[in-house]
Amino acid sequence: MNIHYLGHAAFELSHDATTVLIDPFLTGNPSAAVNADDLAPTVIALTHGHGDHYGDTVSIAKRTGATVVAITELAGELSDAGLDDVRDPNLGGTVDFDWGSVKLVPAWHTSMSPGGTVNTPAGLIIRLGGKTVYHLGDTALFGDLELIGRRHPVDVALVCIGGHYTMDRHDAVEAVRLIGPRQVIPCHYGTFPAIITDVGAFKAEVESSTDAEVIVLSPGERHSS
Ligand code: NI
Ligand code: MN
Repeated sequence: MNIHYLGHAAFELSHDATTVLIDPFLTGNPSAAVNADDLAPTVIALTHGHGDHYGDTVSIAKRTGATVVAITELAGELSDAGLDDVRDPNLGGTVDFDWGSVKLVPAWHTSMSPGGTVNTPAGLIIRLGGKTVYHLGDTALFGDLELIGRRHPVDVALVCIGGHYTMDRHDAVEAVRLIGPRQVIPCHYGTFPAIITDVGAFKAEVESSTDAEVIVLSPGERHSS
């Protein structure tokens, strides 16, 4: 399975003919590594409706016909926006595909979409290519990360570390300890002044206090897991 970091909280996971695009905030994203018009996902999965996650979802899905997975209220808004293949799970729900699955798990955050729909933020547990990727979404540190990690042994955790809008790098070290993933890719930092942080210090602290390996990707870089 290949992981392509597109900047901020946006990633593409790909295996064989399947590409799962997560939180495609590209237009207006100062760290975007690609143009939204150049992406051709099979599925778009959203953690929540904030603009820096919802991003270019509607234009990409309209152009490509990609299936969109988003929590119920957000899915309703996306259907109203004219998308015809929208799946609408709620927390705890899993959407199965022939290539794997997307499950919504809790995240502690707030959210309102650009269109004004209040929606509950989520983390995403994605099964693809025999691997489990956990995108934490935007979240504060909370104890049930341990339960999520116990329920779903995680190969790669995509972890917000920027602080201010989410947990900071110090809380994120504890989050990694609770989840127990094999590998960690930090995200949601450096995009804006308020979320600039020391990613090297995060990597050093995680690797000295847990068994996880931290892979720091610059926007546009890839990692094979
Ligand atoms: Ni957010
Ligand atoms: Mn965010």
